[in-house]
Amino acid sequence: MTRSEDSKTLSRQRYGMYARGYVTSSTHARGVDLERLIEIVQPRADQVALDVATGGGHTALALSPHVERVIATDLTPEMLGAARDFLAEQGATNVDFQPADAEDLPFDDANFDLVTCRIAAHHFPAADRFVTEAARVLRSGGLLWLQDHVLPEDDATARYVDGFEKLRDPSHNRAFSEAEWLDMLSRAGLSAEHSEQLTKRHFFIPWTERQGCSPEVVRELVRRLEQASAAAREWMQPRRLGTDEASFVNHHILIACRKS
Ligand SMILES: C[S@@+](CC[C@H](N)C(=O)[O-])C[C@H]1O[C@@H](n2cnc3c(N)ncnc32)[C@H](O)[C@@H]1O
Repeated sequence: MTRSEDSKTLSRQRYGMYARGYVTSSTHARGVDLERLIEIVQPRADQVALDVATGGGHTALALSPHVERVIATDLTPEMLGAARDFLAEQGATNVDFQPADAEDLPFDDANFDLVTCRIAAHHFPAADRFVTEAARVLRSGGLLWLQDHVLPEDDATARYVDGFEKLRDPSHNRAFSEAEWLDMLSRAGLSAEHSEQLTKRHFFIPWTERQGCSPEVVRELVRRLEQASAAAREWMQPRRLGTDEASFVNHHILIACRKS
């Protein structure tokens, strides 16, 4: 098995085990980021959207009232099943579900008006391949909406932040800085029309529980937060460490880019 296949198998196993937790996760289900998606992208009733790595289906659900159809895809069959049940409970009737690897999308060229991918690209072993695939399946003039963890531009702090995320979830492959994303998108022929960053505060206990972290991993994560450099603390803004209310932030980038 290649490293890339290993990494995808790990993602499938972990998200298979923790699927339901991603449907109920408040940081995935709610947030200003989903509102920003609608405000910036302005989806239209005649559009067909592809949601890549749909997870619990929250992005597909946010899009569904605004577009003609959403095709929600994911690598993990259990995750797709959980998303299908959740969207049926929510009364969304214009969403179809299909298994798909983000790096090898099973769709024709120029098939979609809009492609979205929210909080998932850090799992992909070759994020650049996903970006090329997204560009391929977009119609000319179509939009890719990408949201993911973003790293600081400073290398040492970036390595610390990415290592922290990977310790909690070994299927986290790597996140990128804004400069790295913009370069990758432009190499795929996509021009960024909008880029912004926001922070999401995570309460440590549900955040580690959602990925089934062992007590040893939790202890090591706490140790790393307590001993973080000043730059890493400034980035992660830890609060109330050592209490049940311990929390920190991660940073997300939201980019809308168009295929010319
Ligand atoms: C955090 S969840 C996504 C959250 C979701 N997009 C939302 O808006 O709430 C990450 C998802 O990425 C999926 N995933 C990981 N690697 C993938 C790949 N190569 N192709 C497609 N999906 C993948 C996992 O199965 C999981 O469902």
